[in-house]
Parts: sequence; structure tokens; C-alpha cells
Amino acid sequence: MNLTELNGIATAMVVSGKGILAADESSGTIKKRFDAIGVESTEENRRDYREMLFRSQEAMSQCISGVILYDETIWQDAKDGTPLVKLIEQSGAIPGIKVDEGTQALPMCPGELVTVGLDKLAERLKKYYERGARFAKWRAVIDIGSGIPSMTAISVNAHALARYAALCQAAQIVPIVEPEVLMDGDHDIDRCYEVTQRVLNKTFQELRVQRVALEGMVLKPNMAISGKKCAKQASVEEVAEKTIRLLKACVPAAVPGIAFLSGGQSDEEATAHLNAMHKLGRLPWGLTFSYGRALQAAPQKAWSGKAENVAAGQTAFSHRARMNGLASKGEWQSSLEKKAA
Ligand code: 13P
Repeated sequence: MNLTELNGIATAMVVSGKGILAADESSGTIKKRFDAIGVESTEENRRDYREMLFRSQEAMSQCISGVILYDETIWQDAKDGTPLVKLIEQSGAIPGIKVDEGTQALPMCPGELVTVGLDKLAERLKKYYERGARFAKWRAVIDIGSGIPSMTAISVNAHALARYAALCQAAQIVPIVEPEVLMDGDHDIDRCYEVTQRVLNKTFQELRVQRVALEGMVLKPNMAISGKKCAKQASVEEVAEKTIRLLKACVPAAVPGIAFLSGGQSDEEATAHLNAMHKLGRLPWGLTFSYGRALQAAPQKAWSGKAENVAAGQTAFSHRARMNGLASKGEWQSSLEKKAA
């Protein structure tokens, strides 16, 4: 392992003004997104859609530090035969790959999940590295509900995240460690805070036990936020203040950066929250976005599967990327949204 190089990549992934495009929807998830815009989820349509994003020159070169790909995409070529990975590299962004293989029911723990995909991961990482991937992602899912999460679910998911992270670093790939506490449900922000704290503490404990170098990883957490069905929704300021307090308590300064998932927040909420966090003063790590839905909902709608809408899709993507790039510096204002509309 060359830790200096891993640290350089991790630092570039969270550089101020840029963030990560999570374009790693599994075939099932992208089908759901395409269904919503009336587009058939064929291999060609998925390629055309992602090619549209990766060819958005302004967004990619100025606001996107890295792109998380799905297995199908990393092997695909653009219409003109250029590998999609090359398009990403040419824009100056770093290609990455989702390597977990989704979730399964956790035995003995009704309603809870464990992320799988460790078998043969070392061999898969080698191939991904050869194809150009310099970072990877593994997502653990923790649900909040009556009597859950159990310590069992937190513990086995943290263990798997650390196993994955160690394998990545041994393969000279920066691991994005993503323990996602879902925002579904009617819990309030303080319950989210408390559960996320337990999850992060256990995750860092496992990372240490398994000798993962914190300097060569990126954390992808949820924000401390009210459940979607909670009657009392926390304000932007409260989300920002509690999220930063939580992360300062749990995430060692050796970690180069934190890149949030959007998790079902609206586009503008996700931007406003990140922006407000940067208003709270200096932070020990880079702090930016690694959004899927909050970057792609607008371009998906604008594109709607039609070749003549590619420019509109790219404009919509560039706008969201620029708004989030500004938020990663604390320079976003809601009036910038209205101007563009
Ligand atoms: P969302 O921003 O849509 O939550 O997706 C980010 C991601 O990569 C989830 O694993």
C-alpha cells in the first residue's frame, strides 16, 4: 500500500468547490428512476444517459471531483467507442466503482439488512484498478424503527465496511466508507443523531481493529436530519449545527474528507444543508457532496430519454453541480436558484 498516493486521491476527491457524482445506481434502482420519466431501462439507454452526464464539460471539469460507477458502466463505451472511464478521466475527474453487491436480510434480526459482496472482492478490485478506478464505494444500510437498529446490525455492517476498506487499500484503491442511516420513518433529528453516533463510533472502531489507514479513506455519511415522516422537521440551521457537532465528535481529523449522501432530501435542501455547515467555521476535514438523487433528479427529468433533450439535461446537471460546488465553499445563496429557473 502506498499511503501517500491514497491520501492524495482522497484529498482530491473532497477538494473545496467540487464533489462526487454518485452515478452508481444498480440496474434495479436506475429502472425505478427511468420508470419515473417514462424511459425503458435498456443497456443502451443507461449508457446514453450516463454519457450525457459525463460529457457535461462545464460541470465535470469545474464541480465534479469523482464519479462512482456501477459495474455495467465501468465496462461500457460511449457511442463513439471511447470508454466511459476515459471520458471521466479526460474531464479531470477520478473514476470510482461501487463494489458492494446490495443487501440481504440479516438472520435473527427481523427487518434489518446486511450488505454483501466480500467474496472474491480482492480479485474484482484488481480488475477495476486496471480499468482505471481509483476509489470504491460500499454502502451499509441502517434503518430506524421501533426496536431497531439492533447492535447486531450495526456491528456486522461496520465489520463488513472495515473488511471492504482494508481490501481496497491493499489494492491501492481509496475506500468510500458509507454507513447510511436512512431518513425514512417518523423519528426526529435527535433520534437520527443518536443512532448515527452509535453507527459512526462502531464503524471507526472496526476500521481501527482491521488496520485501515484513516488518511487513505473518505467517509460518506447521512446528515443528522429529521425522518421524512416526522411531524417536526428540523430547520436548515439545526441540521447543519447538529451534523457538524456529531461529525466532530465521531470522525478523527486524520480522515481527509467527508462527502454526504443526499438520502431523499430535495435538491435544494441537500445544497442548503451543506452550505450552512460551511458557515459554521473551520473544519478538520474536507466536507462536500457525493449526491445521487440530488444531482440527477433534474437532469433526468429534462432529458426524459430524448436525444434532442441532451443539451437541456446537461444544463440541468451543470446547474445542480454548480450550486453544490458553491455550497462546498459556503458560497451558495437561494437567490442563485431562482435566477436559473
Ligand atoms: P443519494 O444521494 O441519492 O442518497 O445517493 C447517494 C449514494 O451513493 C447512496 O449510496
